[in-house]
Amino acid sequence: MNVHGSIALVSGGNRGLGKAYVQALLDAGARKVYVGMRHPTDVSDARLQPIKLDITNEQDVNAAVKACQDITILINNAGVATESPLIEAPSMDGARQEIEINYLGTLAMCRAFAPVLKRNGGGVLVNMLSVVSWYVDPVVGSYSASKAAEFAMTNGVRIELRRQGTLVVGVYAGYIDTDMTANFKVPKSRPEDVARNVIKAINAGEEEVLADEQSRSIKAALKARPESLNERSQQDWDRDHPSEVPSTSRTTGQRRNEGG
Ligand SMILES: NC(=O)c1ccc[n+]([C@@H]2O[C@H](COP(=O)([O-])OP(=O)(O)OC[C@H]3O[C@@H](n4cnc5c(N)ncnc54)[C@H](OP(=O)(O)O)[C@@H]3O)[C@@H](O)[C@H]2O)c1
Repeated sequence: MNVHGSIALVSGGNRGLGKAYVQALLDAGARKVYVGMRHPTDVSDARLQPIKLDITNEQDVNAAVKACQDITILINNAGVATESPLIEAPSMDGARQEIEINYLGTLAMCRAFAPVLKRNGGGVLVNMLSVVSWYVDPVVGSYSASKAAEFAMTNGVRIELRRQGTLVVGVYAGYIDTDMTANFKVPKSRPEDVARNVIKAINAGEEEVLADEQSRSIKAALKARPESLNERSQQDWDRDHPSEVPSTSRTTGQRRNEGG
């Protein structure tokens, strides 16, 4: 599918990675881009059209379907991370919010726009996943679970939509430099690089996009020894919670460190 001349909708297109997707689509020659925003603001480029869109709001989603009948590319980018561990978080509010937005909201968008894409010849449906779709980072445990649910959903949607000719793309990335990761002092990829890699993959008809170096290295580790990812997460968690670690698991952690 050629992005040049296409018409796209990006959810959460007002900032962060979504904004980079919007720009990358324009740079690749998209004819029109609907910019999904919870609180629409004016846009300067005539090729951009703001759309009020909270993906958890059924009325917004239905109105967006009516307004965006001409799209051939849907980028489900909107998402939230509440930085909630599964047990340590004071309540389940973060877990609920992440499931509502990242999984159920994205699923609602897939369901609502599948017939539109079909009518327009198949098109492309992109879901913005994460490396934690593959394993759990306990610091963002409930976000990881929501992204794993979104990963399973993406694979299922791909199977259901293959016959109508829709290319269903799953995008994986590690830390990207946006508001979402402001509290994490770690190496991050640039949103514009991630977005550009996704556009390239759409043009090439690829279903899986390893959009940055971190996703490529974690995918390699997953292939080589899947348990290594949970082991690494355990070591990181134990290091940050030393007083709670029973001496037996501390010994195990040390052995793993020694063994590389
Ligand atoms: N940053 C990373 O390291 C990273 C890595 C892998 C994957 N991702 C994924 O990439 C996507 C974009 O994240 P980001 O880093 O750009 O985060 P961000 O800077 O926090 O931006 C999130 C965007 O999603 C929108 N949004 C949140 N809830 C929404 C809802 N219910 N309906 C519609 N829009 C909603 C936000 O709108 P408002 O402005 O109204 O809040 C904002 O535009 C997410 O799916 C995230 O899980 C991020």
